[in-house]
Amino acid sequence: MPLIAVLPGDGIGPEVTREARRVLEALDLGLSFEEAPVGGAGYLAAGHPLPDDTLALAKRADAVLFGAIGDPRFEKLERHLRPEAALLGIRKALGLFANLRPATLFPGLEDASPLKPEVVNGLDIVIVRELIGDIYFGEKGHRTTPDGLRQGYDVMSYDEAEVTRIARVGFEMAKRRRRKLCSVDKANVLETSQLWRDVVTAMAADYPEVELTHMYVDNAAMQLVRAPAAFDVIVTGNLFGDILSDQASMCAGSIGMLPSASLAAWSGANGMYEPIHGSAPDIAGQGKANPCAAILSAAMLLRHSLSDEASAQRIEKAVAAALAKGARTADLGGNLSTSAMGDAVLLELQ
Ligand code: NAD
Ligand code: IPM
Ligand code: MN
Repeated sequence: MPLIAVLPGDGIGPEVTREARRVLEALDLGLSFEEAPVGGAGYLAAGHPLPDDTLALAKRADAVLFGAIGDPRFEKLERHLRPEAALLGIRKALGLFANLRPATLFPGLEDASPLKPEVVNGLDIVIVRELIGDIYFGEKGHRTTPDGLRQGYDVMSYDEAEVTRIARVGFEMAKRRRRKLCSVDKANVLETSQLWRDVVTAMAADYPEVELTHMYVDNAAMQLVRAPAAFDVIVTGNLFGDILSDQASMCAGSIGMLPSASLAAWSGANGMYEPIHGSAPDIAGQGKANPCAAILSAAMLLRHSLSDEASAQRIEKAVAAALAKGARTADLGGNLSTSAMGDAVLLELQ
């Protein structure tokens, strides 16, 4: 019986994860679930954002269903005790270097995006984000300059092995889709990016069927607003991928629509699945959060960790059907609560 570790986290994390779990349970796949605290909830329960038992559960499980972390009450703690440290810690501990963030426009949501319907029509892109390197994991700290000024620093770096394995995921993904790969970097300024570009360019020889382009990240941000549907697969580093995926979410109507899979190998195995959004303190506890990103993350869990493509599609079709009938949370211009949106999806499961 596959074991799913459920880590709801903070803020709207538990609210949206509840709906995702209900959907998984309704499919009656014989999954077992075990829940553990993480983030601010982990700190409150065990004095650490990533309690040992929680990490052990994540390692033991066949897959992790993650909600969101982050709580303004803990922003002043030392960095290693803040909720965010738990998320970065699990990603690193499980070796989850490949973060797949699909952004698709569900029919009917054209009007939910602030962009014109004709701009977002046909949107179907995947951002392949490197997840355990880059400036996130380099040396960081603060010091005093010779002039006596306080200074903070974070080191950005990638080695060629790190770039090679994520570039491989980008090419393999593009090969299975519309065969267009756009590698996003800042090679005009950053040495990290020049290495990135050199490694990706060399790999293109292995994939003659894939059309590779390179784009600077500032231009990519602009193109994502100008003509987002022109992209197929974007492969990029940790920081750029974080920013561009939040931006891409608005092409799909809302940040509440984008799921993600974080994998340790192209072929899947035990990964972690979470919406790309955070704990949304501004709406937490009000039943306003859109659970679709979490529900679609559960679909990705079935696809990538349990090799159950049919069940993954059942969930995705149910979300599409509910949206097509007008089910909308507030972020999409409607007035359904989180659980009512979950109900609407459950009703369409077949
Ligand atoms: P956020 O994604 O939590 O919220 C940004 C905005 O989007 C808010 O106005 C929020 O209400 C809205 N929003 C987010 N998810 C939504 C949903 N499902 N339905 C409707 N509206 C939604 O980002 P933030 O405000 O910058 O960060 C809040 C906290 O979350 C911080 O502590 C941050 O570190 C953390 N965070 C965690 C994750 C994660 O767990 N993966 C991701 C991003 C941010
Ligand atoms: C995300 C979040 C995280 C990230 C934070 C909370 C550490 O923004 O998952 O997108 O930057 O990776
Ligand atoms: Mn983010």
